[in-house]
This record gives sequence, C-alpha cells and structure tokens, in this order.
Amino acid sequence: MDFSAYEEKIKGILSPKRYYHSMRVASQARSLAQKYGADTDKAYLAGMLHDIMKELSFKDSIEYCDKNGIKLTFIERNTYKILHGIIGADYIRQNCNINDVDIINSVRYHVTARARMSLLEKIIYLADFTSDDRSFDGVDNLREAVQINIDTGMLAALSFSVRELLDKGDCYIHPDTLEAYNDVMKDILRNNS
Ligand SMILES: [Fe+2]
Ligand SMILES: [Fe+2]
Repeated sequence: MDFSAYEEKIKGILSPKRYYHSMRVASQARSLAQKYGADTDKAYLAGMLHDIMKELSFKDSIEYCDKNGIKLTFIERNTYKILHGIIGADYIRQNCNINDVDIINSVRYHVTARARMSLLEKIIYLADFTSDDRSFDGVDNLREAVQINIDTGMLAALSFSVRELLDKGDCYIHPDTLEAYNDVMKDILRNNS
C-alpha cells in the first residue's frame, strides 16, 4: 500500500513534532498489528492519521462539530483533549477518502477508548501510549504490558489514564473510558476464574 499521499497530508497539517509523533505511532501500530494478527496496513494508516485534527483550536473544534452536525455530550463539549478524536474520524472520512469503519473508529476512540473495542482500535490506543517518541513516567511499564497480551496492555493503559485524570483533579472522565476499563476487567476476571 502506498501511504505517501497520507503522509504528505499530515505533514501539511501538523507541526513537525506532531507529524513525527504520528509516524512513530504508525510504526508502533504496525508492529503491534504484526504481533497480534491485525491488518498491518490499516494499523499503519490509522496510526498515521490518529492525531490529524489535534492542532485545531478548542474554538475551531467546537465550530467544526457544530458545522458538521456532530452532536457532542456535555463532557465532550467541555473537554478539548477529546475533540480531536471525534473530529479526526469525521475529517478523514470527508477529506482523506477513508471509508473503512475500523480505521475511522480507531481514530474516533483513540483518546477515550470504549467498551467492546476492535483489535485495531486497541492497537491504535496502545500505540499512541507506547510509540518510541514517548517519554513519560511509566511508559516502560506500559511498553512491557503491551508485549504480554493486548488486554494486559489495555488494562495497564486505561489504569494509567484514569489515575492520571484523577490526579490532575481538574477534568471530566469520559464515560467511554470507564466503560472501557470495566469491559477489559470483565474479560480478565472471566479468564482468571
Ligand atoms: Fe490524540
Ligand atoms: Fe497521539
């Protein structure tokens, strides 16, 4: 698959730093797809595109949603960080000729996660946390967890994310994130019993 047109597209939209991050996430997504038996081209492409709308301002993000008929919940309308996933999914469908629902959903849910995620959705969520350009406290634990199995990775990443949001103490936690946590926990507890 030729990714060059998509690469040019994100290069033109994003800052050099974000473009670099996107390419590193693409690479990590491809490697996780290889390991877990997902489509490596879709993973690479979704990784490349996941943050395509990350640099839209809060005001422009709200305007985009209103103009394009995207309904937002109260929490979404008031949480800037979440909007780029929602808008990115719509943008790639409208402007990058992406019709693959799994790729679109992987972009849509890469910030919040959700219950019953597809393998590709999990891979993009985890690649975003563990790409080699990341250097936050705890990244090594997450990198280890994603190599054990995909749900161990998801539990570690969701726990990290919820804990981080609680520690910040100044933002909402999207219900999709809590549902994702409980959903992964359900599978883990079921497999342990
Ligand atoms: Fe993002
Ligand atoms: Fe990202």
